[in-house]
Amino acid sequence: MSSITEEIALAAFAEVFGGQPSAIGRAPGRVELLGNHTDYNGGLVLAAAIDRWTVVVGRAVPGQDSRVFSANFGELETFEIDSIAPGHPSESWARYVRGVTWIMNQWVGPLASGFEVALTGDVPIGAGLSSSASLQAAFAMFLIGADLTSRPGEFAEKSESHRLELAHALRRSENEYVGVASGLLDQFSTLFGKAGHAIVLDCRTLEHEILSLGNPPPAIVVCDSKTSRRLADGQYNRRRAECERVVEHFQNKKPEQNIRQLRDITLDELRDEWSTLDPVGRLRARHVLTENDRVTAGAAALRSGDLIRFGSLMSASHVSSRDDFENSSPALDALFEAAEESPGFLGGKLSGAGWAGCTVNLVRTDDAESFAESLRSGYARRTGLVPDVHICHAAAGATSFSLTNRQGERN
Ligand code: GLA
Repeated sequence: MSSITEEIALAAFAEVFGGQPSAIGRAPGRVELLGNHTDYNGGLVLAAAIDRWTVVVGRAVPGQDSRVFSANFGELETFEIDSIAPGHPSESWARYVRGVTWIMNQWVGPLASGFEVALTGDVPIGAGLSSSASLQAAFAMFLIGADLTSRPGEFAEKSESHRLELAHALRRSENEYVGVASGLLDQFSTLFGKAGHAIVLDCRTLEHEILSLGNPPPAIVVCDSKTSRRLADGQYNRRRAECERVVEHFQNKKPEQNIRQLRDITLDELRDEWSTLDPVGRLRARHVLTENDRVTAGAAALRSGDLIRFGSLMSASHVSSRDDFENSSPALDALFEAAEESPGFLGGKLSGAGWAGCTVNLVRTDDAESFAESLRSGYARRTGLVPDVHICHAAAGATSFSLTNRQGERN
């Protein structure tokens, strides 16, 4: 639960706006356990929501004017809800809030009125834990919980298909408003998380399954390298284009096959074409295709309770990111190596886009503290930097509730 985060949001609301908010939206960060850069290639991902949260508290106000205060940044953003359109040069957190407002207007019709909102969170920002999707989902849940959309309050609580619709809408907001060509992984994970469980998603068919991480579940230890990057800074979109060029190669070679994404190519086909493919693109494709296989194997390992096997697949994923997709960094590799020599380590990898940010490690619960200690010193020895280490657990997905009736809360 996120009671301290909620208290901070409530105190910020009282200070900036005065009076009482009427609703809360709350959404967790996420880790990608397997399936790196597979989502936009129509592939498979295996993720978990973690117990770090963005909390949004607020109330409706008459008219179109809206004011949103970020307690993390100490910044107030103001806008009119009916004049929001892509292309506004807002930066950082504010473009996500504007983007969700925009997509809600597009998707379910104009919002009922403006609002006053305070938000805060303890999802590390820019670290690969999807603080942005967490902000999007928490804000969307607030809009739903405060009855500002034509969706009824219980809409996203009750039905899986409605949650899936919301995940798509939030992804569209990130793609079309924020300008990052991301896949569905982040929004799906923050909406579909379940305590003690991971989620496997087929991004092509949208079939998904909730898988137990065991009893007791291992700790999910997130290590922030303290090197950060902006997702929109070009690297991510460049990788996406590299993958698309491999698809084009196969489309030209095999026009009779309906090849749309890397998902439509097998590893054997890739091997057959290896010498004619662009030397960079073929490595990117090999990473994505072997990742899909690791997700399938990882889901099978979780079904049979084999965390050792699952952990070794995570570590293999890191190696593939490092060598084939080239989205690791010296700092992330140092974290990975320091983790491998630490007690209770089951497996680990970079999480999310890569290049900077975090690694995620599965660690035996009883060893989590000594693992963290050993990792701090191992990383410092290698880089001279002190990492932030967060001992997390798989958590429930986004929720909203009225402040006068908190019964809608999910566990
Ligand atoms: C970022 C994106 C996701 C996904 C990961 C890499 O987190 O937002 O959609 O592509 O990178 O797996």
